[in-house]
Amino acid sequence: MIIANWKANGSLAANISWHKKLTQILPGNNFSDIGIASSNIHFIQIKKIFEKSNLKVGLQDIDFNGGARTGSVSASMASDAGCNFSLLGHSERRYLFNEDNTLIRTKIQAAISNRIKPILCIGESEECLEEKETRDFLKSQLIGALSGVELNKHAVIAYEPIWAIGSGNTPAPKDINLIHEFIKDVVQSTSANNIEPKVLYGGSVSHKNAEAFFDEKSIDGALVGGASLKASSFADIIKIYRKVKRK
Ligand code: PGA
Repeated sequence: MIIANWKANGSLAANISWHKKLTQILPGNNFSDIGIASSNIHFIQIKKIFEKSNLKVGLQDIDFNGGARTGSVSASMASDAGCNFSLLGHSERRYLFNEDNTLIRTKIQAAISNRIKPILCIGESEECLEEKETRDFLKSQLIGALSGVELNKHAVIAYEPIWAIGSGNTPAPKDINLIHEFIKDVVQSTSANNIEPKVLYGGSVSHKNAEAFFDEKSIDGALVGGASLKASSFADIIKIYRKVKRK
C-alpha cells in the first residue's frame, strides 16, 4: 500500500487539480492499493472526488473519545464519515503535540473499535541512531502502543526514522528491510493475537529511490509526505510500486 501524507497542505482548488492530474496519469478506477491521509477539513471533499474509485481516504490523527473535547475529531465521527484508516503516533504528533505511547494506544483501540485501520507510526531520532539504540527504541514504542491490543490481520506499522523525514537522507534499503523484519517479530509477540503486520517505510521516499525500497521483501509499501503533494511524482511512485510488487 502507498499512502500520501498530505500533512497541513492542500486547498479545495489544489485538491481538485491533484485528482485530475493523478487520474490522467493513472487511468482506471482501481486505486485500492492507494490511500490519502487528508486533513480533517478536506476529508469529505477528498472522499467525494474519489468516490468512483476505491482509493482509501483516511485521517492523520483521530481522538479516542468525543464530547467535551474542543478541537477534536473522534474515532466514531471519523468512522461515520467513511474514514478507512488513520495515521496514529506520527513523529510530528509526538513532538509537536506531546503524544505519548499510552495516549497512542488508546487511540489505536478507539480506531479498531470503530472499524478504522490504525497505521501506527514509529521511528528513532538521529541521536538514537548514533547511539545505536534504534532497535531498543522501536521496541519500546511498539510495546508501549500495542501491548494487550487485539490487532486485526490488516494491521499496519509505518517505520519512519525522524531524521529521514523531509531531509532527503534515508537509510540503506537493506537496513530498512532488516528493521522491518524486526518490527514484524516484535509486533507478532506483543499484540494480543500474534498478528504479523504489514510494514510501510516513510521518510524522503521519492520516485528516485522508491524502486530500491520496494525491491526489499519486507518493505510492504510507503508513507509518502513531500513527494505526494505533486500528483505526477506520487503517480510515478505508484507505478514503480505496482511494477515491483506485482512481479
Ligand atoms: P516525507 O514525509 O516523505 O516528506 O519525508 C514522510 C512523513 O512524514 O510521513
